[in-house]
Amino acid sequence: MHDILPEEQKYWRYVLKKAESIIEDYGFERIDTPIVESTELFLRGVGENTDIVEKEMYSFKTRGGDDLSLRPEGTAGVVRAYIENGMQVRPHPVKLFYYGPMFRHDQPQAGRYRQHWQLAVETIGDASEIVDAELIFVGYKILESLGLKNYNVQINSLGDASSRAVYVRALKDYYKPRLKKVCTQCKSRFKNNILRMLDCKEETCREAAKDAPPIFDFLNEDAKKHFKRLIEILDECKIPYILNQNLVRGQDYYTHTIFEFVPEEKEVEKSLDGKPVQIVSSGLALGGGGRYDRLIDMLGGPKTPAAGWALGVDRIVTALKQNNINVPEIGVKPKVFLAQLGDAAKKKSLMLFENMRKAGIEVKSSLGRDSIKSQLRIANRLGVRYTLIFGQKEAIDGTIIIREMDTGIQETVLLDKVVEEMKKRLKNNG
Ligand code: HAM
Repeated sequence: MHDILPEEQKYWRYVLKKAESIIEDYGFERIDTPIVESTELFLRGVGENTDIVEKEMYSFKTRGGDDLSLRPEGTAGVVRAYIENGMQVRPHPVKLFYYGPMFRHDQPQAGRYRQHWQLAVETIGDASEIVDAELIFVGYKILESLGLKNYNVQINSLGDASSRAVYVRALKDYYKPRLKKVCTQCKSRFKNNILRMLDCKEETCREAAKDAPPIFDFLNEDAKKHFKRLIEILDECKIPYILNQNLVRGQDYYTHTIFEFVPEEKEVEKSLDGKPVQIVSSGLALGGGGRYDRLIDMLGGPKTPAAGWALGVDRIVTALKQNNINVPEIGVKPKVFLAQLGDAAKKKSLMLFENMRKAGIEVKSSLGRDSIKSQLRIANRLGVRYTLIFGQKEAIDGTIIIREMDTGIQETVLLDKVVEEMKKRLKNNG
């Protein structure tokens, strides 16, 4: 887990501001769900045999005896909220977005944190491929608007439950004679989560996955049609996608389309005679998602199609820095510095500062300091146009000195008039 220090905040604010404005333009409304949910929700929603649930959850028993977990992801919680709050009566699709911390007890390494932040969207109640396309489009446009250009969308289809069952059987036949060659983890995946053998990052497992039968051959006609139409829309709106037959994703709830936003890699083959190819990519995804048409009824709601994605904000911030993307500084550049000297002046300074702030004047001060020299040094460093010097004598007389920093010219004015005077001067001289 890591701290986000003040100097880092500008990156986070930049990402959120840009992304939220695009997300809201596309009609998504914010939802916030608790960071703690019942462990059962993730067992049923994300899947008992997934790495996330099996190895990475922070789970605990409460004093009252409930089994709870820090959320490892947000989709299951949003679906729970959708069902519990009777959102099925709203006009569909219900388009939601959320931003917050997720918790996974993963091996700490570059780009993998035990607390990470996701910005995510979910479109609930529409099975059409245009929804998948809109989601991918919006995610891609967000990355593009942040200045991150060298990213591809890797996509695949997992089909529906019945075609997946047939595919799993074919994979079992394929992997059986190759089991000696795969890592220990994949040996156990063979029994209970065989699809994940396809995207294991171990070299030996990548080799073993090379000739695996493509899931495409096992999709039924509806699933193929859905995927084909999606690709046509992506072509139409010029989203650079790559068909990756080895993409499976880490949650069990996915059906049909799945996708990830992944850094471009030169050695990746795009396509072979227009047919999908097997791709090996080690780049960390900046985001990922897909369709989950079974999740809502699996969690006790009415049968409702849905799809969504989540972007990993920690990874996006790292990418912004790696790509030397300039982001705006937080806070305004002050134009006035308020320097004070002596008890009487210090006492009145806070109110004077507040009056200037309320009048819209960008002002800074260092009220804890006593030496006028050190305060003027700060004023110089800040590059303000004016410093107000409020000393013992001025506090008694009800006056204050305005010093123009460029010329050193000073003028004494009445304390009551200084806010108006500063507004006038700043308006005239900027
Ligand atoms: P996910 O792919 O598990 O999807 O996570 C989404 C993104 O969160 C990843 O692509 C990555 O950028 C970031 N991320 C995941 N784990 C970590 C980590 N340990 N450290 C840093 N960043 C991380 C989901 O969570 C799904 N709920 C997305 C979704 C929404 N699918 C449908 N709707």
